[in-house]
Amino acid sequence: MANIIIPPGWHIPDREATPESVYFNRRAFIKSAGLGIAAAGLGACGQDFAPIYIDNDLPVDGSCDASPPTHPLQTICPSPTVNLYPANRNPAYEVPSRDLTDRLVAATYNNFYEFIGGGLGAENTIWPFVGPFTVWPWTIEVTGEAEVTGTFDVSDFEREFGLEERVYRHRCVERWSMVVPWTGYPLARLIQKFRPLSSANYVRFVGFDRPNEAIGQQIPGIYPWPYYEALRMDEALNELAFMVTGIFGEPLPKQHGAPWRLALPWKYGFKGPKSIVRIEFTRERPPTFWSDVWSDEYGFYSNVNPDVPHPRWSQRWETPIGTEEQRATTLFNGYGSYVADLYDPDLLTYIS
Ligand code: MTE
Repeated sequence: MANIIIPPGWHIPDREATPESVYFNRRAFIKSAGLGIAAAGLGACGQDFAPIYIDNDLPVDGSCDASPPTHPLQTICPSPTVNLYPANRNPAYEVPSRDLTDRLVAATYNNFYEFIGGGLGAENTIWPFVGPFTVWPWTIEVTGEAEVTGTFDVSDFEREFGLEERVYRHRCVERWSMVVPWTGYPLARLIQKFRPLSSANYVRFVGFDRPNEAIGQQIPGIYPWPYYEALRMDEALNELAFMVTGIFGEPLPKQHGAPWRLALPWKYGFKGPKSIVRIEFTRERPPTFWSDVWSDEYGFYSNVNPDVPHPRWSQRWETPIGTEEQRATTLFNGYGSYVADLYDPDLLTYIS
């Protein structure tokens, strides 16, 4: 993928050296008592939900209409399960050694090629293009080697499983990183619901294909949309694999992959697809998007590994977004105690 990144994806634009919470005018706005949700009103998406207000004085009205957003967090579309936010933080998943990434930096420095309208590699210009993207209602198809298949409304999963918050590291293959509180539930809970057959060796995830809503999908010839990724079943059932529905205590902004995406903190970020519409249980190992686009990209596993350089750059260090620091990359992004057993140690340098 990254051989078309211009400028390099790890370049931090000057604008982002200043936290976006300073860059954008702060403005007093209605705040609810610590919940981040305002009093009742006619919400967006034509649904009768309370509009969302962010609890840090930011001018967010949850309008969620198709017009271009004027603020990076105006892209939060009130979800049918908004009453489940904020979820309790699970203390088992914290990153005590690092500060949380600034919320607005995270919301303005993204990878979501479906919405690349500001030029390839323009990670800081995803959010202005997500306005036309409709995220609710959101149904998914489940197919393949499982007892339970069919069409499901993703908001029902949130009600059924409940939500928790986990602070995870996130490491992009382009060498930028962040530490953010995701809201969601374990992928294993979701998979168990579908009762995969013993023949289900892999789980495949497919994104949406809506060129009329996603400017990046209008670019002809480069990408085989929709986005697709896959995991081996034991990876998918690992306790770290997390279905994400929110960030920073509220439903996901569209640019983070609303209404749900996957977080796999021991792998490079591209293994975690955003805005998933189909899940397939397969016998054979499915191909993956970036490996199909660029034959010299990392392969199926793509685990974070400082010893396996990208064809065009070292992976020995990373830059937390919003900073100019360089920090050492660690094997499995520091999550080896959870996942090292999944992989053959003799093949450790080949698992990327
Ligand atoms: N999912 C889809 N559908 N399309 C994408 O372009 N980019 C991936 C991943 N998931 C991508 C995607 C990459 S390269 C990264 S680093 C993360 O999303 C970025 O997530 P964030 O923008 O929420 O930080």
